[in-house]
Amino acid sequence: MTKRVAILISGGGSNMLRLVESMVGDHPARPVLVASNDPEAGGLKRAAEMGIATAAVDHRPFKGDRPAFEAALSAPLEEAAPDILCLAGFMRVLTPGFVARWQGRMLNIHPSLLPKYKGLNTHARALEAGDAEHGCTVHEVTPELDDGPILGQACLAIAPGDTPESLASRVLTLEHRLYPDVLRRFAQGDRSFHQLS
Ligand code: GRF
Repeated sequence: MTKRVAILISGGGSNMLRLVESMVGDHPARPVLVASNDPEAGGLKRAAEMGIATAAVDHRPFKGDRPAFEAALSAPLEEAAPDILCLAGFMRVLTPGFVARWQGRMLNIHPSLLPKYKGLNTHARALEAGDAEHGCTVHEVTPELDDGPILGQACLAIAPGDTPESLASRVLTLEHRLYPDVLRRFAQGDRSFHQLS
């Protein structure tokens, strides 16, 4: 049975794009919704151009009332009835209540080799620490931020002269390979860890 995938974004949606592009042919999943907390998110236009249903719920009017924002976001989500939720550059922290609704079928991609560097500014922190390698992680979402079971990782060597910007760009290229790889396996029921070579 083909799995229905909803993707949550906050910006350009480059990860969303790769996920959508991967769900073709014999892939066990198909995209059913792209939703954002920012009505101006560039990824919404890209998704609509690919014929995918979109939804936008601006988080700002809710003034920090996370449950109220999530209740509004849940309306289009429940209507799409996804089997899997992919957070892809989604920049809002989710409440335990929302996570509980989707836990076990909600993925996120984070631009570090978790458990290192949870949270923001991961590239600068890896550089400041003098790490030799860096990368990205796809994990199941649990109530604690950037902490769920790790499903896949991709690594690269930090190069001399790398800046947070150059590192972000190189890691993003890895993300675009890793997330589709993990989603395909996850949609087939495979929750084992894979290192992207
Ligand atoms: C990027 O910084 C990426 O590392 C993280 O989310 C941000 C935006 O990604 N996962 P996208 O282009 O919107 O997918």
